[in-house]
Amino acid sequence: MDKKKIMSVFGTRPEAIKMAPLVRALEEDGRFTSLCCLTGQHREMLDCVMEIFRLHADYDLNIMEKNQTLSTITTKTLLGMEKVIAEAKPDLILVHGDTTTTFAGALSAFYQKVPVGHVEAGLRTFDKYSPYPEEMNRNLVGKIAQLHFAPTRANAENLRREQLMGEIFITGNTVIDAMKTTVASSFRFSDERINQLDPTRRLIVMTCHRRENYGEPMAAIMRAVRRIALDNPDLIVIYPVHLSPVVQKAAHEGLDGLDNVLLIDPIDVEQMHNLMARSYLVLTDSGGLQEEAPALGKPVLVMRRETERPEAIHAGTAKLVGVDEQAIVDAVEKLLNDQNAYSQMAHAVNPYGDGNACSRIVRAIAWSFGMEPERPQDFIV
Ligand code: UD1
Ligand code: UDP
Repeated sequence: MDKKKIMSVFGTRPEAIKMAPLVRALEEDGRFTSLCCLTGQHREMLDCVMEIFRLHADYDLNIMEKNQTLSTITTKTLLGMEKVIAEAKPDLILVHGDTTTTFAGALSAFYQKVPVGHVEAGLRTFDKYSPYPEEMNRNLVGKIAQLHFAPTRANAENLRREQLMGEIFITGNTVIDAMKTTVASSFRFSDERINQLDPTRRLIVMTCHRRENYGEPMAAIMRAVRRIALDNPDLIVIYPVHLSPVVQKAAHEGLDGLDNVLLIDPIDVEQMHNLMARSYLVLTDSGGLQEEAPALGKPVLVMRRETERPEAIHAGTAKLVGVDEQAIVDAVEKLLNDQNAYSQMAHAVNPYGDGNACSRIVRAIAWSFGMEPERPQDFIV
């Protein structure tokens, strides 16, 4: 039998981190030809992940522009993918999550009648504009996809309620697979300032970059962190700042000039996972960090109004604190000063996966092509 061609399409940092172990697993399985098509929606931040996981791009649309708009990302991806699909003739296209690359990649596959597998399917806030545009991106991809790989049972239930066409599999999140190779107790950071930090000093790892937080919410977040840093000179905040010009401006305007706040360039994913592993707590509006921090036993305060990842909140390791300055200060102060509250949140739970998501996805794909007699067993926590 001819090997089926599976083309993974991705373009941003989080998609790359979560698709990397799957691309590897497809290569290692032997039954497939695994191709990678990058949109390049992110350039430096994407290349950095490709390097760490030693992945090679078969196609690269290289679409990134400074201050790009959702329309330019979408149209450039559609036009680029048309040529790539015509040349590569994939049997299945895999997309991940909810970015504009994900949506445009799936739409392009649909236009050329190539089936789509959606990795990290079924996350929902049920609020069209939050996260924006991700909630709509993932809803639209759900309509297009034939294979839906839901990380958790709750994600699968969301999809079932929508009565989508296609097959739903509960696989766990591939980020937990990625973490098996990144975290090490002997890890050395490339930034010597981090290696030399006094281990008794409490470390807050922060990220903040979401579009729905642009403007006043992001300014309020920066004011809150400034107050926390000034009130607690013994702690240190490390914030790798996303390369978006909007985010760079907000972070530097809000946080420059503080001795105990390190604004650094984005770091590679090994550095990031190990930095979180050394932290006291994580402060973020990111999606991925909400999955990674619980797996490392770190409390995570989510600076958003809603989350599509309620599992860690139910498990008690994450809290939704919103984007109000005072609420953020209060939530951090509580974890700094109330050891009971801290230990209630600081336990490693893994509602998002068991590290075997990729092998389930590979078996599900094989099953869909009639190469496996049975569907893979669902991941159940
Ligand atoms: C995108 C995703 C978001 C995801 C985030 C992860 C969409 C609509 N949003 O948002 O879901 O959470 O990625 O980071 O798809 N830039 C660089 N170099 C890079 C990366 C970005 O210079 O390596 C700059 C560019 O100027 C770009 C800007 O960052 O215009 C914003 O990037 P963009 O992909 O448009 O949005 P994100 O906020 O990163
Ligand atoms: N991350 C990274 N370097 C950084 C900041 C984040 O490697 O400087 C990783 C992080 O560990 C997680 C992913 O990037 O795996 C999250 O991506 P991001 O916050 O950009 O997007 P989101 O998850 O919000 O879509």
